[in-house]
Amino acid sequence: MTSKEEKEQDDEGSFSSKKQSGPLYLEVEELEGIGPAMKAKLNTAGIVTVADLASKSPTEVADAIGSDIQRATEICEKAREKLVEMNYLGENFVSATEIYKRRKAIDRISTGSRNLDDLFAGGIETQAVTEFYGEFGSGKTQICHTLCVMVQQPLELGGLRGNVVYIDTENTFRPERIVGIAEARGCDPQVILDGIIVAKAYNSSHQELIMSELGKQVREHEVKLVIVDSAVAHYRAEFLGRGTLSERQQRLNKFMHALVRAAEIYNIAIVATNQVLSTPDTFFGDPTRATGGHVVAHTSTYRVYIRKTGKNRVARMVDSPYHAEREVVFILDEKGVDDPPEEGSSRRKQVTTS
Ligand code: GTP
Ligand code: MG
Repeated sequence: MTSKEEKEQDDEGSFSSKKQSGPLYLEVEELEGIGPAMKAKLNTAGIVTVADLASKSPTEVADAIGSDIQRATEICEKAREKLVEMNYLGENFVSATEIYKRRKAIDRISTGSRNLDDLFAGGIETQAVTEFYGEFGSGKTQICHTLCVMVQQPLELGGLRGNVVYIDTENTFRPERIVGIAEARGCDPQVILDGIIVAKAYNSSHQELIMSELGKQVREHEVKLVIVDSAVAHYRAEFLGRGTLSERQQRLNKFMHALVRAAEIYNIAIVATNQVLSTPDTFFGDPTRATGGHVVAHTSTYRVYIRKTGKNRVARMVDSPYHAEREVVFILDEKGVDDPPEEGSSRRKQVTTS
């Protein structure tokens, strides 16, 4: 259970000692060759730490410091090397045993449903981008709201005692729903609300700007989860017609890669939602496909398709480097994402009538 005292107590513990020191807080001027003038330019662009620098693309760094790509690439490389030197990032070439060991250290966040957690072999992973896609009303936003509560829970209850950045592009974030889910799960709603930083993105450029400032939020607010609900909506609305498709895909590609880098560098989980387009001319297979095309599909680490079947929701792992492609059933109720009641149990009645 997450209470105010528990969180405060935690703030005085080892968690907060990491806050001021350690690889994640090393400032850019600690890198060889970065003087006060360059530091000032980087800081203006929101790049404060070596980790921020490592999370950027050379193009972004070149824009920030007004240099050519080659110089910017060198600086990005140097930032990565520094993090490798500090044992925060792995070397370019490592043994599979070492990678296996590191993967065991990946943190997981419970979705609120045991079935859905099983689909991910234990919950949503940090250092990865997980994409939920599905039709209108399939439950994508409900999953996001539930995760906002779950990530703040202590480890033994499936959380990481971390906070959330919620990038809301469709104006569907509802604090009332968070309060409901928190109460149903026995948490103090005020503490949970305090742990959610909401960033409303008004258009795709604004969404990209918010993303570029993410490092500061992660550092200052002990963020463990970033939600983008939805990643694609603005791009879809702004770039209409075939002529604009390539620019749209390019911008979306850049955004998705920024998500992947941030997940890795800051050791956070990133969850992005995506709508599906109905394609009525499809006779075989699933008549829906995710928007964003191959760009989103190829960048997300895990892709899960959500669909409605009566009162239940079905989640299918569509694309994963190691999970089997299979389906699980979950429901939406007062706790947000939840497991279906056991056959014949008294809870069944309660849920179906709520
Ligand atoms: P789009 O964003 O429109 O693509 O849809 P989405 O996939 O984000 O759907 P969302 O998560 O908003 O799901 C909406 C559905 O969640 C509703 O149709 C309800 O079935 C369910 N839902 C929302 N709030 C509650 C609630 O408080 N209790 C219960 N039991 N169900 C809820
Ligand atoms: Mg939604």
